[in-house]
Amino acid sequence: MNILETQDITKLYTIGERQIAVVDRVSLQVKEGEFVVITGSSGSGKTTLLTLLSGLDRPTSGKIFLAGEDITSFNEDQLAEIRNMTTGFVFQDFHLVPSLNALENVMFPAELAGDERAAERARSLLERVGLWQRSHNFPEQLSGGEKQRVALCRALVNTPPILFADEPTGNLDSRNSREIVSLLLEMQRESNTTLVMATHSPEIAALAERILNLHDGRLVKEREDHPAEERGGMEAKEIRLQH
Ligand SMILES: Nc1ncnc2c1ncn2[C@@H]1O[C@H](COP(=O)(O)OP(=O)(O)OP(=O)(O)O)[C@@H](O)[C@H]1O
Ligand SMILES: [Mg+2]
Repeated sequence: MNILETQDITKLYTIGERQIAVVDRVSLQVKEGEFVVITGSSGSGKTTLLTLLSGLDRPTSGKIFLAGEDITSFNEDQLAEIRNMTTGFVFQDFHLVPSLNALENVMFPAELAGDERAAERARSLLERVGLWQRSHNFPEQLSGGEKQRVALCRALVNTPPILFADEPTGNLDSRNSREIVSLLLEMQRESNTTLVMATHSPEIAALAERILNLHDGRLVKEREDHPAEERGGMEAKEIRLQH
């Protein structure tokens, strides 16, 4: 089943007199449990596309089906709900709430969803990423790598079927990048979570099942499915990233 599908989505921005299609008639399908990477040079529209796919922003035209629902027909409340229940989002610059400690940041989406076991779930995730002892630290009291691990826990607390990540290792050194990618892939495989990630890193892209390449907002080529054994380095310990 396709967990995500778009039909001809376009995002136009007006700059002065000019209209620019930052995302230009993109049609794509993503299957449940797939790991898809979006590549393309700076300014090619990766972040914009991810914000549309995840319901953080709306396309100017075209349709987006997320978990079978046409989210382009949704009002703001419906969009907020499907985002919270169906998606997780990991940003390059973490986006943690500065006034909440690590545990509270992770619990937040679960509390919003009315999950009575929010604290329990948050604790098990923080333990999983080795940060339970930092759970009372505020974001400014955490390192970059720690912040991203907290952000990953927050994105996963509602066990979303689809996780979006926008250059999740862009602000991290190579050791922390490896750790975040390993955690992302472990969790993707364990829970059959669909993972859609924008990255500049060829090493990370090499781990994906499929690569979507953007050029000036257009999907220019797609590297087709290839078997896991050809991907190489799928085991966490084998992942090699360079900066
Ligand atoms: N709110 C906006 N108004 C006008 N133009 C915008 C807006 N947001 C983004 N753009 C333009 O859209 C284009 C695509 O931006 P986007 O951030 O999606 O690129 P990207 O592929 O994520 O780049 P990077 O690799 O640098 O993160 C850029 O040319 C950018 O200037
Ligand atoms: Mg970007």
